[in-house]
Amino acid sequence: MSVAMEWCAIDEAALEELAKAFAQQLGQGGVVLLEGDLGAGKTTFARALLKALGVGERIKSPTYSLIESYRIGDLDAHHLDLYRIADADELEWLGLPDLLDANSLLLIEWPERGAGALPPADLGVRFEHAGERRNVAVSANSARGREWLGTQFPGS
Ligand SMILES: Nc1ncnc2c1ncn2[C@@H]1O[C@H](COP(=O)(O)OP(=O)(O)OP(=O)(O)O)[C@@H](O)[C@H]1O
Ligand SMILES: [Mg+2]
Repeated sequence: MSVAMEWCAIDEAALEELAKAFAQQLGQGGVVLLEGDLGAGKTTFARALLKALGVGERIKSPTYSLIESYRIGDLDAHHLDLYRIADADELEWLGLPDLLDANSLLLIEWPERGAGALPPADLGVRFEHAGERRNVAVSANSARGREWLGTQFPGS
């Protein structure tokens, strides 16, 4: 996975601003993998992104429910956390292929736990602890993802 853009040692406010910038593109839907260790900032990013898209209700972490879904205008947004999945087969009941219609957004924490059962990603976002702050690296994995990165962050 080639890294397309990186942000080094950003604080929480900057991470939320970054999520907001991505929300401008992701209102059309897409598949975004949120990778990184426990506490690396995946839920923080997803929350800020969903809020920027217009979710008004409290955005719960899907750590226990596995999935939290939101309807935002014409967009169906699904926030998943696969941490507690032992085997990708456990994802069958979610009906992932059906969740992924033209107008849906999937934000997936711990995607490595669902390897093989997940749809192809447009973007991969990797979070890393950097002292009290975080490093964030975004890679584009599809033509659509590359277009988003190029539009949102010209020169990338
Ligand atoms: N850029 C940042 N700088 C400093 N702290 C941050 C930053 N982003 C998030 N945090 C803080 O890190 C903590 C963990 O964040 P978060 O819950 O988003 O991690 P996570 O990657 O979703 O973890 P998990 O794997 O457990 O789901 C929170 O207390 C959050 O406020
Ligand atoms: Mg989380």
